[in-house]
Amino acid sequence: MPSIHIAPSILAADFSRLGEQIEQINQTAARWIHVDVMDGRFVPNITMGQLVVSALKRVTARVLDVHLMVIEPNSMIESFAEAGATQLTVHYEVCADLFRTVTLIKRAGCAAGVAINPHTPVAMLLPILPLLDHVVVMTVSPGAGGQKLIPQTLPKIRELRDFANQMQPNLNIVIDGGVNVETLETVIRAGGNVLVAGASVFKDDAIVQNHAMLTQIAHQMTQI
Ligand code: DX5
Ligand code: ZN
Repeated sequence: MPSIHIAPSILAADFSRLGEQIEQINQTAARWIHVDVMDGRFVPNITMGQLVVSALKRVTARVLDVHLMVIEPNSMIESFAEAGATQLTVHYEVCADLFRTVTLIKRAGCAAGVAINPHTPVAMLLPILPLLDHVVVMTVSPGAGGQKLIPQTLPKIRELRDFANQMQPNLNIVIDGGVNVETLETVIRAGGNVLVAGASVFKDDAIVQNHAMLTQIAHQMTQI
């Protein structure tokens, strides 16, 4: 299984102090910074775009993991890649031709991932799985941070890890939504290896300590 790490989601950041908070993330062991792009159509909220990604690129060397919660991802792939995205995730639910979209992402020089909403079965991804670098399993409804993990999504993580073991052993299984000190062990046991964490990392403005605590829990349980 690929290595386990905690990816802070800047959706939970204080945007009036974003640079300062990225400085704090730079002091953690985080490998990826998760960037939630919302277009107000796929989900009700509008968040950030290419400008924010290029600003992040100037202040951090970490992987910029851009999660596109948008209706028309194809038209944005090139501009997000140019802005500095290291990897791009599109939603299964909006792609009429995933092979085309994944090819566009790779041609733009980014690692490619697909996200599935809580109601979307893992089996829908099987034909494309060998081409993917990661799959994002949404464990909450997309669109907002700070929600409770939906327990019905847990068997999907296990199912995906089983398929990945057979078809794509290097696949990163990214868990997005409701990851905190209480749920972390469960999602890792189910087979997740990249744990996106928004509220639980930015809580109380103690980013370095929160990230270290989640990382420690993850490492302790994997050593047993
Ligand atoms: C939700 C986003 C998540 C969000 C997770 O639509 O995709 O990345 O930031 O936030 P928490 O960790 O607070 O549930
Ligand atoms: Zn996300």
